Amino acid sequence: MSYHLGLIGYPIKHSLSPWIHQQFLNQTGLKGTYDLFEFQPDQDFSNDLDQLKEKNIHGFNVTVPYKEKIIHHLDALDHNAKAMGAVNTVYNRNGEWIGYNTDGIGYVRSLLNKFPQLEREKEKRILLIGAGGAARGIYYALMIFGFSSIDIANRTLQSARNIAHLRLNHVDTNVISLQKAETDLYEYDIIIQTTSVGMKPNIDHTIIHLSKVKTGCIVSDIVYQPIKTKFLTEAEKLGASIHFGHTMLLYQAQAAFEIWTFKKAKINNLDQKLERKLRGE
Ligand code: ATR
Repeated sequence: MSYHLGLIGYPIKHSLSPWIHQQFLNQTGLKGTYDLFEFQPDQDFSNDLDQLKEKNIHGFNVTVPYKEKIIHHLDALDHNAKAMGAVNTVYNRNGEWIGYNTDGIGYVRSLLNKFPQLEREKEKRILLIGAGGAARGIYYALMIFGFSSIDIANRTLQSARNIAHLRLNHVDTNVISLQKAETDLYEYDIIIQTTSVGMKPNIDHTIIHLSKVKTGCIVSDIVYQPIKTKFLTEAEKLGASIHFGHTMLLYQAQAAFEIWTFKKAKINNLDQKLERKLRGE
């Protein structure tokens, strides 16, 4: 058989997903294609989806601006996607479309792959900066993976509180301002930057000052354009171990590929290959 996979979203012309999934197909020896379906926001979304259904696609990814909108068009949702209120992966199970969310899970897989000792250190104090869709997925996934101390700092406190409502029983969460995060930064072992601050072209911006960061702290930024943000550059200068955002792309794709094909692709040296691609080499 040949897998028919793809991505819906807008704009997606520059998406790296076709490249990533082609690597997975090659590596696992499966036949298939991964196509881009760019649905214009001013067109009839239901109609676009009907046409996609006729193509009998095995599975597809969903990106901006359809991660929430797609939900009403699905037959079922897995519990992670339901809790997150967003879907990035759809699996066609015998004609039924099932929604999943692998964004947060992909992020945590990438973090654990770089820092495997965290598997035994789930009580480490985590600071999540930002309270958008990405932060929501990561917060939920960190809890599912067993982490127990996750504070959320955001410019708008109410958005952070909305995420904290997802809190599971084994978890402690405080919602704090960006100012408080900055002054109390030495309290945290892992800092995860999930906002778009520092993304090209605004590469000189950082969401908070890092001068109070603890030596040996893990500092992560989900922004991957540039690969090394100012936030990560400063963190490294101050003695932190840094974690790059682009690896999340690979692991969220790996989790989606697993849902569609039941095969776990290996990441191997794909992170270096992806890094070179992002640098335009
Ligand atoms: P996504 O869904 O991709 O995570 P989003 O929903 O637009 O993106 O969320 C953006 C996050 O970046 C929010 O936490 C936002 O803070 P607010 O909730 O206060 O809006 C944060 N953010 C974006 N630009 C910011 C800036 N210049 N300063 C501080 N926070 C910023």
